[in-house]
Amino acid sequence: MKKNHSILITGCSSGIGYQVAKDLSERGYQVIATARKSEDVERLKQQGLFSLQLDLEDSTSISSAFKATLDYTDGRLHSVFNNGAYGQAGAVEDLPREALSKQFETNVIGTIELTNLAIPIMRNQNQGRIIFNSSVLGLIALKFRGTYTASKFAIEGFADTLRLELHGSGIHISLIEPGPIATKFRANSYTMYQRYVDRDASIFRDEYIVSEKRLLKKGAAAPFTLPASSITPKVLHALESKTPKTRYYVTKPTYALAYLKRMLSQRALDKLLLKISDS
Ligand SMILES: NC(=O)c1ccc[n+]([C@@H]2O[C@H](COP(=O)([O-])OP(=O)(O)OC[C@H]3O[C@@H](n4cnc5c(N)ncnc54)[C@H](OP(=O)(O)O)[C@@H]3O)[C@@H](O)[C@H]2O)c1
Repeated sequence: MKKNHSILITGCSSGIGYQVAKDLSERGYQVIATARKSEDVERLKQQGLFSLQLDLEDSTSISSAFKATLDYTDGRLHSVFNNGAYGQAGAVEDLPREALSKQFETNVIGTIELTNLAIPIMRNQNQGRIIFNSSVLGLIALKFRGTYTASKFAIEGFADTLRLELHGSGIHISLIEPGPIATKFRANSYTMYQRYVDRDASIFRDEYIVSEKRLLKKGAAAPFTLPASSITPKVLHALESKTPKTRYYVTKPTYALAYLKRMLSQRALDKLLLKISDS
């Protein structure tokens, strides 16, 4: 496989999307680094990346970014890295409909809408790679991450279905399953928690206060956190291998929890997940 293939990446303003866009660009890929906000698009352009505005909550933004991508690539598109997403924190019972629908619009519906634009182009080429950035929370659940977890379980379901529906088409589907990665993810998650959760009215008030303290502790990172650059080799394998994997685990917690999910009874797994949720 040649390295100068085109790849559209969502959510390149920071974190994993930004890192992978830079790394692939340095390796000779034709990267279309998309971001939700115009100021981020400008910053990415100044850094020498080809960048377009793409807001996953907005169908018009998705279709015009896709059209501009095809103009740039002469109608071809080798791959899509569905990376853009955020984590809505808060207990399931504390979140209003608006928070649920916003989470699913971004993490699931916009992502699949974009993927569905890419599939016919890839079918015509008889090849393509579609990579979803899922999460360890696409494999197991934790307290106070239910909405995000459900969105990543949905992505896992779509990816597994697409793999069957695209069988024999030359289009490969892969999922990346990161554990904790050092990005703005936690800070962005905290903003969305503050927007939608009425902490003082919640039955979980005391637990929220403990998690807030943990989140806001300067320099605090979850155990076994890896840098965003740890995702690049997995994306490269999904792009370049003749036999890309269905799932790429990243970080020790993902490997361990995926294994334990297979080995433990649900009751035993829940005990462990309760401990992890509260740690
Ligand atoms: N960091 C982790 O520990 C971790 C673990 C497992 C999985 N992941 C997954 O990794 C991916 C990247 O997250 P990250 O860790 O790099 O966090 P990040 O630094 O917060 O980056 C998230 C990116 O998604 C973008 N995004 C959010 N809403 C969007 C929308 N409506 N339209 C388009 N883009 C949108 C953000 O743009 P704005 O700057 O405009 O908000 C940002 O560019 C996500 O899919 C996340 O679920 C992360």
